[in-house]
Amino acid sequence: MQTEDLGRADFIVIGSGAAGLYAALHLADAGRVSVLSKLDLYAGNTRFAQGGVAAAFSADDSPELHMEDTWRAGAGFGNRAAIGVLVREAPEVIDDLIRRGVKFDCRNGAVALGREGFHSRNRIWHIGGDATGEELLKVLLREAEEKRIHFIEHAFVDHLLAGAGGCGGVSFIKGGRRFLLQAGAVILASGGCSQVYRCATGARENTGDGLALAYRSGAVLRDLEFFQFHPTVFFPPRGAPFLITEAVRGEGAYLVNHEGERFAGRYHPLGELGPRDVLARAILREQERTRLPVYLDLRHLGAAFIRERFPTIYRRCLEWGLDITRERIPISPAAHYLIGGIETDLEGRTAVKNLFAVGEVASTDVHGANRLASNSLLEALVFGRRVARVAAASRPVEGCGGRAPAQEFLAGLERGQADAGQASACRALRPLLQKLLWEKVGLIRSSSGLEEAVARLESWLPLLRCRFAERELCENQNLLLVGMMMARAATARRESRGCHYRADFPESDPRLQERHLMFKRPQQEEAIMPAPQWVPGFPASGGGA
Ligand code: FUM
Repeated sequence: MQTEDLGRADFIVIGSGAAGLYAALHLADAGRVSVLSKLDLYAGNTRFAQGGVAAAFSADDSPELHMEDTWRAGAGFGNRAAIGVLVREAPEVIDDLIRRGVKFDCRNGAVALGREGFHSRNRIWHIGGDATGEELLKVLLREAEEKRIHFIEHAFVDHLLAGAGGCGGVSFIKGGRRFLLQAGAVILASGGCSQVYRCATGARENTGDGLALAYRSGAVLRDLEFFQFHPTVFFPPRGAPFLITEAVRGEGAYLVNHEGERFAGRYHPLGELGPRDVLARAILREQERTRLPVYLDLRHLGAAFIRERFPTIYRRCLEWGLDITRERIPISPAAHYLIGGIETDLEGRTAVKNLFAVGEVASTDVHGANRLASNSLLEALVFGRRVARVAAASRPVEGCGGRAPAQEFLAGLERGQADAGQASACRALRPLLQKLLWEKVGLIRSSSGLEEAVARLESWLPLLRCRFAERELCENQNLLLVGMMMARAATARRESRGCHYRADFPESDPRLQERHLMFKRPQQEEAIMPAPQWVPGFPASGGGA
């Protein structure tokens, strides 16, 4: 494969969702920013975000209340100092978005703040009813064009040019050629890894690439056992699963079983607005008990209101012949959001100098063991801005210009070419892995299933030693690496906490309250997959809003 050296940018952002674009916009005045997207600019998860951005504004609300809701939703496992940053900076970010031209929905002349599960107040800022992500992207992309941010689409980053001194650039594959691009700072904003699961709300390109890149470069990954499942997803007969936002329940929609019973109250005192993991398991139980579908029922909200408040859901369901003003929506849980990720501080710094992470790929520790609805876009924006401020000041360090790691990487490519058999084994991997994780490392886990998953994943690990130069195969390697870490972490955490539910350990273990599981690549090249290590977390009572 031909290699071309593209020279230097000042900053490279990997990912063109809300986190990456917002960081790029805040960096634009500090130097040349290149944003790399592995498909087109609209790819990624942001466009699927329906609910909105959580921020405390109304007279009966406050950052302190938002903080308590976030903390409780996270099963008391989050870092209160980090949550404090998130909730305090939320209103500033909303003001900034309005200045940039975002038009949040209003009703009767006032902002129409929505409610979602576990929020004690109405504080969800939404756009276009249920089209928040898509509309937000349009504004950010328009601004990015005005700021002359340099976009490189269909660029799959397969390697970070990182050495002992830190990170100094990337190698990416585009159109059958390899390119090297150096930079003073690299920001990973590449989203999560929901494609480790067979059923997922996220984009097909959500293959854990940023996690794998960071891990291979020496960054720390943590809390990978915490993966959130969304309770209400519509599975059309063909095509991708489609999220039905929690905001419909916030507006009063019912969860009903086939017998027409509103069953959520039997599983949680907050009923339809209970925590996602509880409701997702409740839906599975009702499906198993009745052997029939479970539904979301919006009909009593009124046809005009449904069409105005949830135009995207209304239209998408109608495409499949389902008129939600007159019929119930059959729903099931699906994999939604990685809670853990690349360990960062509150400015997005990773353990590798000049490598930053933000958004779903990062673990700032705001979500604890389970994420509060609509805190994900908020986190992307709040920490996107913070990361930019620090990255703007970063200077390339001696020996970290990217050239030495680039030469080493290119030499390694020559040596490790995969053969046709390895390529075909890797190509066949994705559906096998997705089924395995869905069944054994999914919503309900147990030691027997987890051990089976780990053994199966281990049998595939030799594929991680192969060098591929094709996006799909590299993605499958990334899914394998990340899936393996998730399975190992879920095996090690012998308790239930937040969205990590073990049928064999259904209670939380107080001894694990402040203990996190982390992965760090060992120095020896042959050890491609270490065991997770327990590390102390932040004191449960530390910090404050
Ligand atoms: O239900 C939803 O709209 C999802 C929101 C979120 O994941 O934050």
